[in-house]
Amino acid sequence: MTDTTETDTTETTPRQIVIFDTTLRDGEQSPGASMNLAEKMEVAQALVDLGVDVIEAGFPIASPGDFEAVREIARSIRGSVICGLARCREADIDRAWEAVQHAEQARIHVFLATSAIHREFKLKMDKDEIIRRAVAGVQRAFGYCSNVEFSPEDAARTESDFLCRVVEAAIDAGATTVNIPDTVGYATPAHMHKVIANLRNRVPNIDKAVISVHCHNDLGMAVANSLAAVEAGAGQIECTINGLGERAGNCSLEEIVMALRTRQDYFRADTRIVSRRLVPTSRLVASVTGIHVQRNKAIVGQNAFAHEAGIHQDGMLKERTTYEIMRPEDVGFAMTDLVLGKHSGRAALADRAANLGYHLTAEQLDHVFEEFKVLADKKKEIYDGDIAVLIEQQIRAVAEQWSLESYRVTSGTGRAPEVSLTLRHGAEEFSTQMACGDGPVDAIFLAIEELTGFSVVCKDFHVHSVTVGKDAQGEVLVQVEYQDRLYRGRGVSTDSVEASAKAFLNAINRIAAVSNGGQA
Ligand code: KIV
Ligand code: ZN
Repeated sequence: MTDTTETDTTETTPRQIVIFDTTLRDGEQSPGASMNLAEKMEVAQALVDLGVDVIEAGFPIASPGDFEAVREIARSIRGSVICGLARCREADIDRAWEAVQHAEQARIHVFLATSAIHREFKLKMDKDEIIRRAVAGVQRAFGYCSNVEFSPEDAARTESDFLCRVVEAAIDAGATTVNIPDTVGYATPAHMHKVIANLRNRVPNIDKAVISVHCHNDLGMAVANSLAAVEAGAGQIECTINGLGERAGNCSLEEIVMALRTRQDYFRADTRIVSRRLVPTSRLVASVTGIHVQRNKAIVGQNAFAHEAGIHQDGMLKERTTYEIMRPEDVGFAMTDLVLGKHSGRAALADRAANLGYHLTAEQLDHVFEEFKVLADKKKEIYDGDIAVLIEQQIRAVAEQWSLESYRVTSGTGRAPEVSLTLRHGAEEFSTQMACGDGPVDAIFLAIEELTGFSVVCKDFHVHSVTVGKDAQGEVLVQVEYQDRLYRGRGVSTDSVEASAKAFLNAINRIAAVSNGGQA
């Protein structure tokens, strides 16, 4: 067995690592990150454009919505393997196959926990029973599909001998990828290296399958642990855009991909990822889920390439490699934030939209162009960020049962705000006047609740400027709870109170859609 820990200076072609993206499955499991069908389709297409090898599109048995999303992605998305998750249970596996069977290339991913803690407390099964069920699960999946992945859940905390036995049995049963999850984010890089090296050294049929890793980030080491696994010989990495995922998230796709690419001298491994699509994809996922990345997030954060210290700026001006190990344009930050204005035409807008990575139909472009003209009357310079929010509003519009006609709020220190609000519902208009709340935003929210009849708990409220300048558009993201479910809402306007009202109404419209039997 080769020791991959030493840098081999003679080898020139990097080893290709398979990128398995689970944003739509593990990522979507993180609280507040759930996406509707249209949003999942959009993210799936962006993942194909990014060059992801395998897209885990969901867990089909989990709910009818999950099933439908995986089936639609399998039917219409081309260019990546589409994978569905299943427990080692017949009904799960049958449902997963039903969902992925029309994919250009399909994969079924079956999993079963193997660690002592999970065996004893969750599954109440002994080791032999685990092996029996794992083998039966893989065999059933293999009966449908030649591309089968098996995951011993909580592998990083599983006894080494038993993990080897399970992995060997799964490969014998037909698994073509064996994925080693650090389900609870407990491993360290040296630990993960040892687990993978051990499997490579001790499982006799290991060369018949690709070894994968799936690291959670509870101790902040998911990327480091995944890199250590690659060093030890893993050939697939499971990761998510922006590191989204259960609890502290999963290994971040953008970080692991750029680590491998930037340090190819060391890892001698690379991926198919089109790195300049990283920032647009990150922004898309942030906007769809409402979970924004922190400014100093590696690779895709707003400050990832910002140099503030004078000594750094001086060095950069003399030679950029003094302080920069990657170029911002390589990960998709625009070299220039091209400015459009009221004289820019439809073709210029279409060109910017395509460069930002959006696939617009002619009809969508027409709508965005109309909104663009309205915005251009309010603000002189329109940046990429403005265009992105206009497009996202258009492509992610929910059926508007309630829309804002007009509002007026007066507020000041020491007195309750006075609000007049008119909403449209179909052909009818409804108005109210109230003196209530604690500030103009609170007053508008209360007035909306009164007119729509939905009383919600506001769980989160964010406002941030989409671009620069005093006339910048404000984007408001709200999260509200209604009957034990969380709903997101988003509104954009150059007037931040109006943006708040729109965001709140957007969430109310999602609730109304679900109340009428639709999808949020
Ligand atoms: O974290 C985990 O163990 C998982 C498995 C289903 C692969 O997500
Ligand atoms: Zn996971």
